[in-house]
Amino acid sequence: MIARLLRRNGWSSTEAADLARLMRLCAELPPPPDPLGYYPHAVELRERLRGRLARVVSPASATRAEEEAVAEQLEEAFLEFYAHLHGYEAPYTREERRRVDKSGGYWCHAGGVSPILRARPWVGADTCLVDLGAGNGLQGLLVQALFPHRLSVQVEISSRMIEAGKVLCEWLGVEAERVRWVERDLCTLSVEELTALGSDFVYLYRPLRPEGPGRVFYERLATALAATAAAGREAVVFSIADPLRPFLRGSWRELYGDGHLTCYAVGGEAPVRRRKSDSRVGAP
Ligand SMILES: C[S@@+](CC[C@H](N)C(=O)[O-])C[C@H]1O[C@@H](n2cnc3c(N)ncnc32)[C@H](O)[C@@H]1O
Repeated sequence: MIARLLRRNGWSSTEAADLARLMRLCAELPPPPDPLGYYPHAVELRERLRGRLARVVSPASATRAEEEAVAEQLEEAFLEFYAHLHGYEAPYTREERRRVDKSGGYWCHAGGVSPILRARPWVGADTCLVDLGAGNGLQGLLVQALFPHRLSVQVEISSRMIEAGKVLCEWLGVEAERVRWVERDLCTLSVEELTALGSDFVYLYRPLRPEGPGRVFYERLATALAATAAAGREAVVFSIADPLRPFLRGSWRELYGDGHLTCYAVGGEAPVRRRKSDSRVGAP
């Protein structure tokens, strides 16, 4: 019923089912532990989500407009909870803040659920997904919860966000060995280090402005991706507010673009869909 309603918001049937699974997961888990005091409204927002989910019944007489209103309220309640956990007011030490400023980095904004839900075809059991500028890693953790895979690599400059991410990882029941946390300034990653991350799924939400040190970073990332393609491997790139495209070279194809999220396949003749269906947090 929930998944059917969410289709009213424009999600495909698979995306709506996965979104419903995420909503239920967040509603059924206890509130996230908050030893660092980052989520002062989590209990209240989780209660609102639970309330909205509980009110979803199946009135045979509901009109389309009524269903749309319920679907919108449901998604809004989930997104408020999700955004709160993501940590808009992300904590940086004075030194980290200085380095983010110097590197032309962007502060933490949530990438939204679209990249998470659209990831399904590209994530298989053996996938290594790298989030470059991961914040507290919630995006990768939710992808792990929906589509368990070998490894999520979370590269982030803020040590406190990484600390927060480790707590969220345990809360979501994602095995610690499936997540690697890398506290690092992206500007300092060499081509060799980017290649050695071994990723076949790169996710980024404009961590750096594509100028100055940021420009060097995107050039290096493009070189690492070209090396992946030259080695006969394929990588999928999901990029929000995409800064990478001008730097891409060699063979790559755009898979999807909506002005917010752009997805490419780099290397490979035809991108291999890695997953058809799977479930960890329960059937839709
Ligand atoms: C727009 S947020 C994206 C967060 C997450 N990936 C998502 O999509 O929801 C950009 C992230 O990049 C991080 N960042 C900014 N400059 C960075 C740098 N020089 N090195 C590593 N991470 C950086 C920020 O701390 C922030 O967490």
